Amino acid sequence: MSQDKSEDLKESKDTEDFFPDGKTLPALREAAADCQACDLYKRGTQTVFGAGTRNAEVLFVGEQPGNDEDLEGEPFVGPAGKLLDKALEEAGIDRQKAYVTNVVKHFKWEPRGKRRIHKKPNAKEIAACRPWLEAEIEIVKPKVIVCLGATAAQALLGSKFRVSKDGGKFIESNLAPYIIATLHPSAILRAPDDQTRHEQKRRFIYDLKKVADVLSKS
Ligand code: URA
Repeated sequence: MSQDKSEDLKESKDTEDFFPDGKTLPALREAAADCQACDLYKRGTQTVFGAGTRNAEVLFVGEQPGNDEDLEGEPFVGPAGKLLDKALEEAGIDRQKAYVTNVVKHFKWEPRGKRRIHKKPNAKEIAACRPWLEAEIEIVKPKVIVCLGATAAQALLGSKFRVSKDGGKFIESNLAPYIIATLHPSAILRAPDDQTRHEQKRRFIYDLKKVADVLSKS
């Protein structure tokens, strides 16, 4: 091994090295702001930690913050977040009672002209960020976890999980009493035509209503 490589290895830190002593959401959020467990901290403006109440009964997991979230430092505040808000309202889920987060907490992007275009996180970045998500789940202890899209579903339910085939069904998991995957709101926004977008929105709200049903049976 070259000396440079062994120096790199010596200097790279595990995610847990950034963890605070006491695991509370505010302490984790503050600690995650300094996370350098993968290289994405070099590209994003800031860490975008999860947001919402510690007592949330439902926890939504997206892929990673987008351009707006990266600038504002809060998850799901851009166009996908607006679609999520509307769908939650239609399904009868109060976002104030939800916790919203992402698998990866930095915006990964590449330049296209003046725009910053979303780039999918790779397995290493997802693995590096996972302890933060696990800590959020452990503290919130939601009754239901909703995976928004394939990245979240595969991170929590296994790499073979297909939202097209297995989405919309409650899956057995030790992460929470109920876990379900559905479409990602960004995928709905990117639908190739109005009819597809309309159908996907309907399916999204249909899945969220199943979550609302479970939440109502406390
Ligand atoms: N897409 C995500 O997956 N998460 C966000 O916070 C915003 C867009």
